[in-house]
Amino acid sequence: MPDHSPLIQSLRTAVAGAPDDVPLRLHLAELLIAGGHHDEAVAETAVALQHAPGDAQARELMARAMGAPRQPVPEVPPVPEVPPPPAGFNWKAAEDQVGDVLPPRFVESPPAPEAPRSPETPQTADGSGDAGAASAWEVETPHGVRLADVGGMQDVKDRLEAAFLAPLRNPELRKLYGKSLRGGLLLYGPPGCGKTFMARAVAGELGANFLSISINDVLDMWMGNSERNMHEVFETARRQAPCVLFLDELDALGAKRSRTAHSGMRNTVNQLLTELDGIDAGANEGVFVLAATNVPWDVDNALRRPGRLDRTILVLPPDAPAREAILRYHLRDRPVANIDLRKLTKATDGLSGADLAHLCEAAAERALLDSARTGTVRMIDMRDLTEAAATISPSSDPWFASARNVAMFANEGGMYDDLVTYLKKKRKL
Ligand SMILES: Nc1ncnc2c1ncn2[C@@H]1O[C@H](COP(=O)(O)OP(=O)(O)OP(=O)(O)O)[C@@H](O)[C@H]1O
Ligand SMILES: [Mg+2]
Repeated sequence: MPDHSPLIQSLRTAVAGAPDDVPLRLHLAELLIAGGHHDEAVAETAVALQHAPGDAQARELMARAMGAPRQPVPEVPPVPEVPPPPAGFNWKAAEDQVGDVLPPRFVESPPAPEAPRSPETPQTADGSGDAGAASAWEVETPHGVRLADVGGMQDVKDRLEAAFLAPLRNPELRKLYGKSLRGGLLLYGPPGCGKTFMARAVAGELGANFLSISINDVLDMWMGNSERNMHEVFETARRQAPCVLFLDELDALGAKRSRTAHSGMRNTVNQLLTELDGIDAGANEGVFVLAATNVPWDVDNALRRPGRLDRTILVLPPDAPAREAILRYHLRDRPVANIDLRKLTKATDGLSGADLAHLCEAAAERALLDSARTGTVRMIDMRDLTEAAATISPSSDPWFASARNVAMFANEGGMYDDLVTYLKKKRKL
């Protein structure tokens, strides 16, 4: 704890003796802000707000405490969008032409890993498939996708199990640890690597409803009424409990973006904090908050304090079993012949889930153009895929370039230890 003036020290003693005295605590918070101890001020004000949720002075102090200039973090360039896959092709018609004599689709069938049973329709480049669905805060009812349907990524599954699922599955543990389980989980990592997919699988695992919201939609649609909107999102999730509430693009609330100049942003962050803290105890019973971001270093620190989104999980580009599952999934409805998945998996190290979807599109396009040129329809073969693979560079490379800076210069409190370990393993650090 930093050095404090004698006045702050006596006030601390007084507050410890009278923990319910809100004005006293707020006085302490005020002095802490004046002394530049913003984090401690936030903690004190948070306790005050628990006692007096509507207290205007407490709210104002919270806003001031959190409006503190943040620790300098190196600027990161925006991560470029993955280009959308080219337009589809009528394989049904093509297959009719190919006739009945079909070579085997896959050769040297490797031991089947858990293939994705029915991941979301990959109709958007990032596969999230939820564009435009946010207007009604649409809740998905429990569906078939479980963690076992996510190919590979054992590390992430283990961490999800330990940090989130195991305690929730065990009602005794839940009761025992009560409050400390209140917080949510923040998934971060390069784009297109399965964060949204994992979140949906977690909902399936809990047999819970799934409400997926992009923070950008909360902010854009209501023009200044974002707080009310945020509250409505949580209320929807509470009405639908048990419900996994997935807050995508959490960084849109970040204090480092130019949009933050928008005066309503701070209030929106505060509203989210209030909702997360579930002021009247038990309000969030059965609501499991997961959030995701590509740029965790843009996420407001206040959101990452204990009891909020305090646990983080790094979701990296798919490992070999994951790539195999993803490739199998994207080739499932296409006319393919003699595909050696194992070999293809080796050749695609570093590609994201979205890159792999793009790869399959590109290979299909090659076969299509070839068929058009020669006038004979042919199947997608291994050459189409390997040659397409050679032209696709991992879309997460720019992400890792930024992440490297953060790992080197801004790994405060070991927040990014997982990232450091991975970068070292890949000799990128
Ligand atoms: N381990 C996996 N097993 C099967 N499919 C996967 C796996 N990981 C990713 N995918 C597929 O890859 C696509 C991209 O994943 P997703 O949209 O979840 O990524 P994301 O990390 O949320 O990306 P963004 O940061 O762009 O939102 C999805 O269509 C998903 O089906
Ligand atoms: Mg996503």
